Amino acid sequence: MNRRQFVKTGSAAASGLLLLKPSTAFGYSANSAVRLGLLGCGNRGTSVASSFSNSTSAQVVALADLFPDKLDAGRDHFNKLNAGLGRSAIDPKLTFHGPHAFEQLAASPDVDLIQISTPPFFHVQHLEAAVASGKHVYCEKPVGIDVKQARQALEIAKRVQPTQSVDVGFQCRNAPPFAAAAERIKAGALGKIAAVTGNYYAPASTEKTHPGASPDEYRLRNWLWDRALSGDILVEQNIHIIDLCNWLLAAHPLKATATGGRNVLTHYGNCWDNYQVHFTYPDDVHFSFASTQFGSYGGFDAGLHLFGSTGSAALPYSGAVQILGAQAWAWQNSTASSTGGTFAANGAFSDNLAFADRDKERTFIDSIVSGPKHNQIAAGVETALSCMLGRMAGYLQREVTWEDLLAHGETYDLGFSLDQFA
Ligand SMILES: NC(=O)c1ccc[n+]([C@@H]2O[C@H](COP(=O)([O-])OP(=O)(O)OC[C@H]3O[C@@H](n4cnc5c(N)ncnc54)[C@H](O)[C@@H]3O)[C@@H](O)[C@H]2O)c1
Repeated sequence: MNRRQFVKTGSAAASGLLLLKPSTAFGYSANSAVRLGLLGCGNRGTSVASSFSNSTSAQVVALADLFPDKLDAGRDHFNKLNAGLGRSAIDPKLTFHGPHAFEQLAASPDVDLIQISTPPFFHVQHLEAAVASGKHVYCEKPVGIDVKQARQALEIAKRVQPTQSVDVGFQCRNAPPFAAAAERIKAGALGKIAAVTGNYYAPASTEKTHPGASPDEYRLRNWLWDRALSGDILVEQNIHIIDLCNWLLAAHPLKATATGGRNVLTHYGNCWDNYQVHFTYPDDVHFSFASTQFGSYGGFDAGLHLFGSTGSAALPYSGAVQILGAQAWAWQNSTASSTGGTFAANGAFSDNLAFADRDKERTFIDSIVSGPKHNQIAAGVETALSCMLGRMAGYLQREVTWEDLLAHGETYDLGFSLDQFA
């Protein structure tokens, strides 16, 4: 993707509000219910679909999951939520489980919007079915865990119809303090940007046990610890910060070097627990990024700093969002937890991200109801590939260029079939 295409596709995600007609810029159409089918009734999926229900005209009418117990929990949750909102219970005919649940959901004529909240390994497969169905799609990040999936997603992006809206789950771009800072940064408030630093220091995830689970089922339920299923922490979790950098620089990294490893974690899995990545962007802009994902002693900190010739900007998840220098500015309502931030495994963060999901969802529903439609797949792929670049530099312990990454064509296999869960 060239820079112009990126700016075009990225801008929808970047600042959807700016693209909307003035009449819809600050609200959403409350009268036309968008019928939402949730694919993946887990932690994030439940949180986002609940937020859609509470913040927009979308109504959860269908559920799908690989596992019946997750489907049951989803049904209980959304039936209660719908009742509280004066809406109907979910029709049992619109609940699907098993390895073909995603196809059954896609085939349903009673669904307008498919929310894909399954583990990353399945996103592109599920995106393909959802886009082919002609429905609107909200797909969680990352759009692909390897280069093969990324290429496939770019082909799917070309098949999105003008009547469809497709969003990727980079809600940080819609956090009001970040959107306001971005507007100023993009207008040149920092002068010539020379360097960027970013970090994502998160606690370890917790093990999910299920009585009688086979080794394959255990992997699926603990997908976060598994490289093939998650893409590793850089691609699965740290992607939010790398996406902010790509967005603000309107570019992707040209090359990367990286260190890191699995130094502390002892539980099942093969994901690393720390990364230090040095990305080089066009115009010799350097982005130094560090992450950790281990420990249960509390503490969480994530954010981005940009340094330019006339000013610097801070975009932390928690704490002051501000610009220092010639065009000094501060978000008046920044809040900071005393610990530096509170981690939210379901992505529903507080402090500066408190309204990120809500505003992302409203902007998306606006695009469906009033237009213009979104197609964020290519921008989502660009950020996923940027993370894969850092991951490959780390695994290979050498500099990797964007061209090296694409030529390498790395792929990850699950190594088993989902048919056993039919
Ligand atoms: N944007 C954010 O801030 C954010 C935060 C957390 C998670 N996420 C993303 O959301 C997605 C889900 O994460 P989660 O924490 O909810 O995980 P989870 O394990 O809690 O939920 C995943 C659900 O998908 C189901 N599932 C697994 N394979 C499936 C398949 N092939 N077909 C249908 N259903 C399947 C599981 O049974 C489970 O119910 C991931 O892609 C993750 O990266 C995004």
